[in-house]
Amino acid sequence: MTTLRLAQGATASRILGIGSFQPERIVTNDELSQTMDTTDEWILERVGIAERRFAAKDESLVDMAVIAGANAVADAGLAPSDVDTVILANCTMPTPIPNGAAQVADRIGVKAAGAFDLNAACAGFCYALNLASDLVRAGSARRVLVIGAEKLTDWIDPVDRANAIIFADGAGAAVVGPADEPGIGPVVWGSAGDVVDLIGMRDGVIYQEGQSVFRWATTQIAPIALRALAVAGIEPSDVDVLIPHQANLRIVESIAKKLRAKGAREDMVVADDIVYSGNTSSASIPMAMDHMRAAGLVKPGDVALLVGFGAGLSYAGQVVICP
Ligand code: UT7
Repeated sequence: MTTLRLAQGATASRILGIGSFQPERIVTNDELSQTMDTTDEWILERVGIAERRFAAKDESLVDMAVIAGANAVADAGLAPSDVDTVILANCTMPTPIPNGAAQVADRIGVKAAGAFDLNAACAGFCYALNLASDLVRAGSARRVLVIGAEKLTDWIDPVDRANAIIFADGAGAAVVGPADEPGIGPVVWGSAGDVVDLIGMRDGVIYQEGQSVFRWATTQIAPIALRALAVAGIEPSDVDVLIPHQANLRIVESIAKKLRAKGAREDMVVADDIVYSGNTSSASIPMAMDHMRAAGLVKPGDVALLVGFGAGLSYAGQVVICP
């Protein structure tokens, strides 16, 4: 009988480096209130966003992903040739083919990369991070560049005040590679396809039933985050940093409050990147981590709890050790 040889993977995986990119143009609430019926007060109070970034017309999702990805590779102290696989999480590519990941890999200089896009909307980065970790541990890849990038402004009705004030553009990335000690915990992921109609695209623009999604996020996501801790063998009090998808500051605060009720520390750092970045879907978690590290709020070795959630409805969460 012929026996196939199996790939030999690493004992464990970890995040080796992170990076991000935001377009130059800052859009304030006051600017938006000039073109739609909204106010700075309403947006700050209901969503917590003070300003966000919009990409230029000729600045693509791939352009942003390339810069974030290259920054993460450099942060890991690696050359592009050290990476062999690129996963681009997104839900806003202008066309389904060609995929973005192969273009990003080529432009960064990752030759002949295994490259594919992954769509789990705002949960996409956490899905892709888990996949990268599994690929490294199974021996299918040595080092994986995981990017979450979105150009949501291509898909927004600019006068739809419910969505145009929330969504924004940007990219965040992480390099995942082998490790002796686990740096990426098991994922808790899932979906609620029975409520798929709550967020989607209609006539080429995003719609969402905001209040229903809000209720789902504020009731379902904290228990998922707690399960991610449990499967990693981590107590709530061990969490140094909480980085939920940046959908609405009130959702972030609700998740933090529920975790603190279960023993998370008062001094646990809670990501509030949405205030200056808006909701960037799959980019929001890695971008928040990168910004928080630059601000000194996240240190190498910190225990971070990530949890993404959004259209699908899909969710995914895991514990990571910050690079
Ligand atoms: O990232 C993917 C996952 N997405 C989410 O997690 C988003 C979850 N949902 C939310 O964050 C919130 O539901 C929204 C931010 C989308 C909306 O906030 P809300 O507090 O739920 O507002 P609402 O839709 O219940 O609207 C309340 C009122 C309405 O007016 P009436 O009917 O009470 O007179 C809206 O027409 O606020 C009005 N409104 C606005 N007013 C000023 C809605 N958008 C605006 C606005 N400015 N931009």
